[in-house]
Amino acid sequence: MTVKVGLIGCGGISVPHADGYLKIPDEAQVTAVCDVVEENRTRMADYVGGARPFDSIEGMLSQSDIDAVDVCLPHHLHKDAIVAAARAGKHVLCEKPLCLTLEEASEIDSVVREGGVTLMCAHNQLFYPAVQQAKELLDSGTLGQIYQARTVDTFFNRGVGANAGWRASRAMVGGGELIDTGYHPTYLLLHLASSAPTEVVAMLTRHALAIEGEDSGQVLVRFADGMVGNIVTSWAYPRPAGWWQFMVVGEHGQMYRQGDALHLELRDAEPQVFDHPGVQTFHLEIADYVRCIREGRRPLNTQEEGTKVLEVILAAYKSDEEKRIVSIGEAAA
Ligand SMILES: NC(=O)c1ccc[n+]([C@@H]2O[C@H](COP(=O)([O-])OP(=O)(O)OC[C@H]3O[C@@H](n4cnc5c(N)ncnc54)[C@H](O)[C@@H]3O)[C@@H](O)[C@H]2O)c1
Repeated sequence: MTVKVGLIGCGGISVPHADGYLKIPDEAQVTAVCDVVEENRTRMADYVGGARPFDSIEGMLSQSDIDAVDVCLPHHLHKDAIVAAARAGKHVLCEKPLCLTLEEASEIDSVVREGGVTLMCAHNQLFYPAVQQAKELLDSGTLGQIYQARTVDTFFNRGVGANAGWRASRAMVGGGELIDTGYHPTYLLLHLASSAPTEVVAMLTRHALAIEGEDSGQVLVRFADGMVGNIVTSWAYPRPAGWWQFMVVGEHGQMYRQGDALHLELRDAEPQVFDHPGVQTFHLEIADYVRCIREGRRPLNTQEEGTKVLEVILAAYKSDEEKRIVSIGEAAA
């Protein structure tokens, strides 16, 4: 079965998504594209080899022959697009964040379950081999009790400024940098952790960018097993030296990612470096989405994990606003 996909939102991130489908032509084909901007939908329709262009999601869902959608829209439009697609019986891949509020997340969960469709959160950084190896090592107890995990995603973002459209709008983005790029180190932290988050405290700042929300965030997360997570995320800081994306410290030593390699430093043992060739995580993510549909398999992160990430992000916003530690669960109140 070739999975027929409708791509919704034909802006920046839709290109690596489209490339992912083009890499597996025997398994998937983008047969419809949708964007309110004619130039964007026409360009993408040509790029994928002649998909049918639509100017509305409803039109695409009712008039095209598709099994699944891929939502690459600004954040405030995610929930309605997911709900419409799931009600129409289509599987859904949605770019991060899942949506903007826990009420929206709850509606998504109900509609996806009722529709019997698969929803996959596009958490592409989980497809890095270094992340996958770290998860296996942590799950097998290599570091023993975990004390701390730090996840980092920082880069100087020249593309976001006063005229940057929806990304500069607190209402459309759902906050600022934390719910955008900061979603990556948040899902990564929850993925590496072996228990659930319980408390969050955050300091959010706007140093350099002309946007309504924060351009940088530092968030501490306490977990049920005693681990403390530390998220550093920013559009104002450069990439950290040596570019590492996570570090986990435990009873027996530490592990961290540097470039594409995973470093393992156990106490009283020679350090080990596991080199992993560079991968295109978007292509791996798209192939996994298509194979989850074809094989009826649960994606690594569905709306369940997406909602847990959102809970931490919303607790961080509440913490920064109210200048206090927020318990998970409070953010819904
Ligand atoms: N995983 C990553 O590393 C990564 C990187 C960039 C963006 N993203 C995510 O991808 C999503 C899109 O971001 P982007 O950078 O591609 O944004 P973008 O602004 O480049 O593209 C959004 C597209 O949606 C279209 N659009 C707006 N309203 C629409 C509507 N009602 N119906 C149909 N089309 C509509 C716009 O015309 C535009 O073409 C966001 O969720 C963002 O967080 C993820």
